[in-house]
Amino acid sequence: MDKASVTELGYIGISVSDAAAWRDYACCIVGMELVDDGEEDRFYLRMDGWHHRIVVHTNGGDDLEYLGWRVDGPNELDAIAAQLDAAGYSYRVASAEEAAERRVLGLLKLEDPGGNPTEIFWGPEQTLRRPFHPGRPMHGRFLTGSQGLGHCLLRQDDDEAAYRFYRTLGFKGGVEYHLPLPDGATAKPTFMHCNDRQHAVAFGLGPMPKRINHLMIEYTELDDLGIAHDMIRERQIPVAMQLGKHSNDQALTFYHASPSGWLWELGWGGVKSSDQLVYYKADLFGHGIEASGFGLDVELGDDG
Ligand SMILES: [Fe+2]
Repeated sequence: MDKASVTELGYIGISVSDAAAWRDYACCIVGMELVDDGEEDRFYLRMDGWHHRIVVHTNGGDDLEYLGWRVDGPNELDAIAAQLDAAGYSYRVASAEEAAERRVLGLLKLEDPGGNPTEIFWGPEQTLRRPFHPGRPMHGRFLTGSQGLGHCLLRQDDDEAAYRFYRTLGFKGGVEYHLPLPDGATAKPTFMHCNDRQHAVAFGLGPMPKRINHLMIEYTELDDLGIAHDMIRERQIPVAMQLGKHSNDQALTFYHASPSGWLWELGWGGVKSSDQLVYYKADLFGHGIEASGFGLDVELGDDG
């Protein structure tokens, strides 16, 4: 039998200290829809027909709380569980109450080797009766669908262990860059995919203060990226990496500080994933380092 695989990054949970700043940023700049179900400790961000793609917990952690990887249904969840058992990873089957809290029909909870809380779920709630309504006027939509909500660069202490774990969940991919570091060492970050999005998870840029370095989301229209870029520049939000194209996903992107200090990468025009591995020593163009101290002080422009 073919190996079972997760199919997309379905949702994430984040913790924030400044809920008002996050509401304004995510909705008025990025364009997400605010969903407030009257719960005191959280609100939701919507990007498409799902009830939400991001749960914002207003408990002050200013970090990633959990990642939710989707499988098709209960049979596929059982198959993933069997793969975790065979590889020696422990997990917990969540209760019906926990599934209801995530607005899914079933899930497992575990941690990845870097200690990042990880959930494997099926059956997310869709709220099609309420069409997606962006938080600010948009020309297009967020690129989600079968490509999931985006990608994350996560903290890992042991890249080999992380690679084995994500392979067990069905991901493909590998090292896609060799990059010179200021101390003379070479960074060899790993990028892994589980659908057409070029990568859904990445790791391997050394020690990080938070679980997450950045979340990347993609617009279907270039003009929506341009509007977000204008607003971020007008508000003088720190830009860690200027507009440019990575050689691997070839999306036009830039990186800036979210209200929690970790980065969001907004993009447009990424290419689809390929199972045939290649590696690069530089980016296609741009991505110059501007504001430092965000864990992305990596020179991407010199392939000498
Ligand atoms: Fe990225």
